[in-house]
Amino acid sequence: MSSVTQLRAIVCVAALLGGARADQEVGLPRSVKVCNHQAPDYSSCLRLAIQESWMTFVKGIPELGLPVLDPMEVDMMENEFHMGQLMGRFVLRDVKSYGAAKSIFQAVRPTRSADRMSLEVDFVMPKVFIEGDYKAEGSVGPYKIGGKGYFNISMEGVSTTWGIEGRVENDRWVVEHFHVYPEVEKMKVYFTDLFNGNPELNKAAMTFVNEYWQVLYKGMLPVVERHWDVHLTDFVNRLIFSKVSFAKTFP
Ligand SMILES: *[C@@H]1O[C@H](CO)[C@@H](O)[C@H](O)[C@H]1NC(C)=O
Repeated sequence: MSSVTQLRAIVCVAALLGGARADQEVGLPRSVKVCNHQAPDYSSCLRLAIQESWMTFVKGIPELGLPVLDPMEVDMMENEFHMGQLMGRFVLRDVKSYGAAKSIFQAVRPTRSADRMSLEVDFVMPKVFIEGDYKAEGSVGPYKIGGKGYFNISMEGVSTTWGIEGRVENDRWVVEHFHVYPEVEKMKVYFTDLFNGNPELNKAAMTFVNEYWQVLYKGMLPVVERHWDVHLTDFVNRLIFSKVSFAKTFP
């Protein structure tokens, strides 16, 4: 199965709000603690700094053009999928994602050299709830399927590792990759009207998705991951790291 996710809304929000010039120095809010990389407790200091300033980021930072992260709103997201006989595309609209505010940061593993830095960040979101509208069209073998309606997804125990790596250039951290590896303990998916108002078929499809969500999720993840990498790399460079001094943020 392949899936294409385009977090277009995030990029639009970034383009609209990220009005500050790349060379302009804005700086992170003063409440964000910084850690000295020569200190013996550098990793635990970073973990605590992220945990303690997380709500500052979640509420959004207007000076940086950083939008609110909980709920995170995405206007539109497009996906394509092919899995055996099943193929099609779906569009998600007005998607709201709740749960980032309750993130628990468990570990940060920094790696630094003279001109590079990478951070691995482990965190858990106990609960995530995503809802929005969808429109889908596709086919199973010779049969057409499709519809539009409402969907929601409840997840529990979402453990994620961020792998952020980049080079240090002109006192800026230029992020080259932002990998995300979320593992989900429990997932429950609801959607209405996948078969244009045939409730029996909709129910059968929902039962199928909820029975096989682990397989479906695993199949989608590698492709979704590649798209997250592109969009999150752009997002953090444009909204944060192009505007803050590396030496001051990561002394
Ligand atoms: C998710 O959608 C279903 C079906 O519309 C609904 O019954 C349920 O209450 C929704 N879940 C939440 C947490 O809103």
